[in-house]
Amino acid sequence: MCGIVGYIGHNNALPILLDGMKRLEYRGYDSSGIAYRNGKGMEIYKAKGRINELEDIVPLPFDHATEGIGHTRWATHGAPSTINAHPHCVDGVAVVHNGIIENYRELKAELITEGHIFMSETDTEVIPHLISRSMKKGLPLYEAILESISSLRGSFALGIMSDNDPSVLYAAKQGSPLVVGYGEGEFFFASDIPAMLNHTKRFLFLEDGQICTLTAKEIDIHTFGKNGTPVKEPAIVEVDWTASMAEKDGYDHFMLKEIYEQPRAIADTLSEWNDCSGSLFENLQLTVRNTFGLRRLHIVACGTSYHAALIGRCIIEELARIPVSVEIASEYRYRQPIIEHDTIFISITQSGETADTLAAQKEAKGRGAKTMTICNVVGSTAAREADVVLYTRAGPEIGVASTKAFTSQVAALCLLAISLASNRGLLMNGDLRVLMNQLHAIPELIEKVLKKSTEIQELAATLTGARDFLYIGRGINYPIALEGALKLKEISYIHAEGYPGGEMKHGSIALIEDGMPVVALAPMTCHFDKILSNIEEVRARGARVIAITDEPGALAHKADDIITFPAAHPLFLPFVTVVPLQLLAYHIAVLKQCDVDRPRNLAKSVTVE
Ligand code: AGP
Repeated sequence: MCGIVGYIGHNNALPILLDGMKRLEYRGYDSSGIAYRNGKGMEIYKAKGRINELEDIVPLPFDHATEGIGHTRWATHGAPSTINAHPHCVDGVAVVHNGIIENYRELKAELITEGHIFMSETDTEVIPHLISRSMKKGLPLYEAILESISSLRGSFALGIMSDNDPSVLYAAKQGSPLVVGYGEGEFFFASDIPAMLNHTKRFLFLEDGQICTLTAKEIDIHTFGKNGTPVKEPAIVEVDWTASMAEKDGYDHFMLKEIYEQPRAIADTLSEWNDCSGSLFENLQLTVRNTFGLRRLHIVACGTSYHAALIGRCIIEELARIPVSVEIASEYRYRQPIIEHDTIFISITQSGETADTLAAQKEAKGRGAKTMTICNVVGSTAAREADVVLYTRAGPEIGVASTKAFTSQVAALCLLAISLASNRGLLMNGDLRVLMNQLHAIPELIEKVLKKSTEIQELAATLTGARDFLYIGRGINYPIALEGALKLKEISYIHAEGYPGGEMKHGSIALIEDGMPVVALAPMTCHFDKILSNIEEVRARGARVIAITDEPGALAHKADDIITFPAAHPLFLPFVTVVPLQLLAYHIAVLKQCDVDRPRNLAKSVTVE
């Protein structure tokens, strides 16, 4: 999960490349590097650490660079270091890469026997060596690139430039995301849209097996291979994202900004539905008649998106009475899944580029399922490969810890459930109107919860020393217990587990030690008495209970700390129970001086297995 950028055109490439790399730092940030041409030749600078380390060594005032490529790294092969940082350059050919070359060891051994000398421990370095070898056989650069690519196995998004071939860049895609940006007399490419939003809103999403040649005047796209076919009219997408959407706008962190954007993100997602639900059901051939024939939904996702899927199951089964199976993508893709007739496969993915989720979607499609994706990035691989797309309208989510995308996914799943139920005659007009009104009121309820941020910050200050947390919930709030635990551990590095309240007696209650924080999701629903028993059980064993509830009175003297949320429809509780947990995790991580937006070992989009 790295980030690559490229620029060619009339403006100075250097500041454009460095700015683009910073906007991709959420994809990887253990080292970075840049290669550019300044009219005299090619310069390469690389540094371990964040991109400002690189900026410190690039000579000022910036050279006027006409073209260049850049890379921000999340180490897969070879420790974070200057030597392992990209670009990797051999005989004047510089390469930046996102992905994993699975056969690099064999290729490296072959090249070493032929006398090639490797400098780094990376898989990527085989690529410029292969290109150099082909060029030494007399192939021009483009053909040398094609020949080299043909021997690669694995995933790659490549940016390539050569000291010997000025005024041209190459970008090639196989398995990792790569987007081309259209400017006026200038072209860009990057792993993700935010890197280019300052300069253009017109993008082309390269497909697997495509190579793009970029000059300042034009771009050309062909499929790989000697007899590669030209891509005549590539689809250009205009996004309605703005550059400021991909900036902090005065917030200390992207994560905090995105927590506060949730009311708007949900409202926009709900309005998207009004525009697209008809065509969505039509494309799924889900007319009123055949929703009765719908036998099952398979929902597959990873991480936070998987937690949204678990919530979706509760809502769809409750309202539409359709069986829903939910599975982790990395498990689904390898278990020879059985796809019955009249099944719809749904992937949920914020980035639309998660390798396991894409593979699962491809597996299901290959077995005959109709595929739908709930996705946040227009034109992403998941969106392009699914039969239908239900876009969340959360806007760019930069913080590694997903927040607004998660609640937008849940909003989309609510709409799907309500529409299926209505099509199946299970929701009469009156009930439908009530439910939709309550759903549209959710942004307002979240605004009320956001007002508790200071109170939650004060609570967080008493919890930074904890070693382990337990989160417990029941019913539709069990996935919120999982999500609260994931938020805490991924940004504060404190161990946390989410658990069904009813499972405590089956093992996890043995974990309880004196003062151990247990966060209990305790809304006044049919599960309240049961979760109250869980609270009493853990408290009797010394736990410090933090109750998240809409009935504080019922928990007086039962919990050590209480965070309240406004009452909501039982099926919509996740919206108001997750926000306190997002804020709790955020404040604990900030108080622990963790890097909230770029937590260690993580990247925003897991584009490799
Ligand atoms: C969420 O906070 C995590 N960053 C991670 O679990 C994420 O949800 C997961 O990698 C799935 O990403 P996706 O939605 O882009 O597919």
